Amino acid sequence: MRKNESSDKKSRRIDFRLLGRIIKLLFKYYPGLSTLTTIFIIFSAIVSSIPPLFLQRVIETIGKYYETRDWAAARSVIIPQVTLLIVLYTVSVICILVYRQLSAYITQGILYRLRRRMFDNMQYLPIRYFDRNSYGDIMSYYTNDIDAIRQVVAETLPIVLQSSVIVLTVLFIMAYYSVWLMLLVLLGVAVMLWVSRTVGGNSSKYFVRQQKSMGKTEGYIQEIMNGQKVVKVFNHEDQSIRDFDAVNQALYEDSYRAHTFANMLGPIILNLGNILYVLVAIVGGILMINKVPNLSISGLALGISIIIPFLNMTKQFTGNLNQVSQQINFVAMAAAGAQRVFALTDEQPEADNGYVTLVNAVIDAEGNVTESDAKTGQWAWKHPHGDGTLTYTPLRGDVRMFNVDFGYDEDKPVLHDITLYAEPGQKVAFVGATGAGKTTITNLLNRFYDIADGKIRYDGININKIKKSDLRRSLGLVLQETCLFTGTVMDNIRYGRLDATDEECIAAAKLSGADSFITRLPDGYQTQLSGSGSNLSQGQRQLLAIARAAVADPPVMILDEATSSIDTRTESIVQRGMDKLMEGRTVFVIAHRLSTVMNSDVIMVLDHGRIIERGSHDQLIAQHGTYYQLYTGAFELE
Ligand SMILES: Nc1ncnc2c1ncn2[C@@H]1O[C@H](COP(=O)(O)OP(=O)(O)OP(=O)(O)O)[C@@H](O)[C@H]1O
Ligand SMILES: [Mg+2]
Repeated sequence: MRKNESSDKKSRRIDFRLLGRIIKLLFKYYPGLSTLTTIFIIFSAIVSSIPPLFLQRVIETIGKYYETRDWAAARSVIIPQVTLLIVLYTVSVICILVYRQLSAYITQGILYRLRRRMFDNMQYLPIRYFDRNSYGDIMSYYTNDIDAIRQVVAETLPIVLQSSVIVLTVLFIMAYYSVWLMLLVLLGVAVMLWVSRTVGGNSSKYFVRQQKSMGKTEGYIQEIMNGQKVVKVFNHEDQSIRDFDAVNQALYEDSYRAHTFANMLGPIILNLGNILYVLVAIVGGILMINKVPNLSISGLALGISIIIPFLNMTKQFTGNLNQVSQQINFVAMAAAGAQRVFALTDEQPEADNGYVTLVNAVIDAEGNVTESDAKTGQWAWKHPHGDGTLTYTPLRGDVRMFNVDFGYDEDKPVLHDITLYAEPGQKVAFVGATGAGKTTITNLLNRFYDIADGKIRYDGININKIKKSDLRRSLGLVLQETCLFTGTVMDNIRYGRLDATDEECIAAAKLSGADSFITRLPDGYQTQLSGSGSNLSQGQRQLLAIARAAVADPPVMILDEATSSIDTRTESIVQRGMDKLMEGRTVFVIAHRLSTVMNSDVIMVLDHGRIIERGSHDQLIAQHGTYYQLYTGAFELE
């Protein structure tokens, strides 16, 4: 409860440091243009706050010549004044036009860079980040939150700067004419600021919430869109509408509250301004009539020629404060948006302390390795040592795990004491009940997650020493859930290795057994996949995923349930392709169907994160253990 209260208080305050960061970015990326814009804004603001000076002169002049009726003399004073005013105004209008153009250019440029920074950083975040955050919510960083920042950069900052300059200039002119009246105005302003803080603070809290609710709503919509089939099959339409209603309602309430407070602020400030206007008129009048000695920079006595411009200035003053107060909400929204955007750009990228890299090599008959710039088709690990020496180890695909422990959450271990050994070219199969930890083991080989305890060695090198990109390049992966991208079939296969030629892609497709269905597609290899492959069957998608792994031609392959959604006839086609694919490679294969793992060199039976049996098919059958039960059970079912 206490914690809630304090976080509530915290969220009520706008974090101006975030705005500071945005402003810093403006000056970092556009130092010249931002400075120019600032100068133009300041100039136009000063110009728009000086008319009272002219007004005072003009009233004074008219008063002076009213008695003498010397209009020619009056004209000679007034006309130059008015001309100067017109010239200044014209320049000011030009300044405004120019700074608006500049501001649009800078704003869009900054948004472009922010989106770019978010996406760039997102590409290097650990898988864990995506476990924790909903996709829709991340999406809304790029849409709503960016838009909140746009509003502030394009509108709020110029308005606030302009108004501040006007307020300061006006304050100075006020002091020039009458310090007493200026103090009266300042007193009024203090009251207004206090009101804005109280009301504005409340609305900021809800603007921050609104931004978060918006993310949640988008997250929900996205999830339901992805799950449309499941929604329909389980008749969940009504339930999802109700669930949507809940998030939508929260969004409605937060936005409604945010805007109620926001909308209250304007009229309150405006009316306080009107009261102040009347007060200045009354107090000014009293001071003038009673001939109270004036205190001013100009040394002028308080008269009608000062009170009228003063009233003008009071209006201008409060009008500008009102403008600024209207912007508080946008500032709150932008601060909330910026907080989320910067949270993504600042999120720690996946750490990689690896220094062992994978290089092209020439390996002679004696096993001597020399690094090569050419594509040799042979690879070696380049291992720099502390003493400045380099060693090269041929890439063979020898994988060993020693007493590995791991849990996705630290306090919930998933794998216990896993020790396994895969020699180059061996086929290691994992079997076991669902949730036993099969996929998890492969996640560790890829270093999607880091182990808590134990050791993993790859060709004798601790995998923590291997640069992640190089480690992953050496591993082919066919995921349990296939993921295809918008593009042609060919593009999707080439995803495995971007410099693969069309012929190599087709060869990979033939090898994996995907070729026969691809050639029957309307445009063959050039068929566009829509909605990440929704126009293909699940099995076809898996065949493509296998072809994609094949084109990369890695020494180690990880196949997670790769054949599970393929019919038996296709399975035998795939099996043949896979057998070819597996030749000479170390393969980790995960399958629920025992027929696909029978001919593995080693079978690991996993149970609740432990390897409980290991051996060849025949050995395990002879053991009459879990594998035997699984196998004979499956046998009976068949
Ligand atoms: N991203 C994750 N975050 C937290 N826990 C996870 C995550 N992925 C899996 N788990 C948990 O880890 C355990 C092992 O999951 P794993 O995916 O390795 O199972 P599996 O053996 O591959 O099962 P299946 O045969 O169903 O694919 C499960 O209990 C699961 O709840
Ligand atoms: Mg799995």
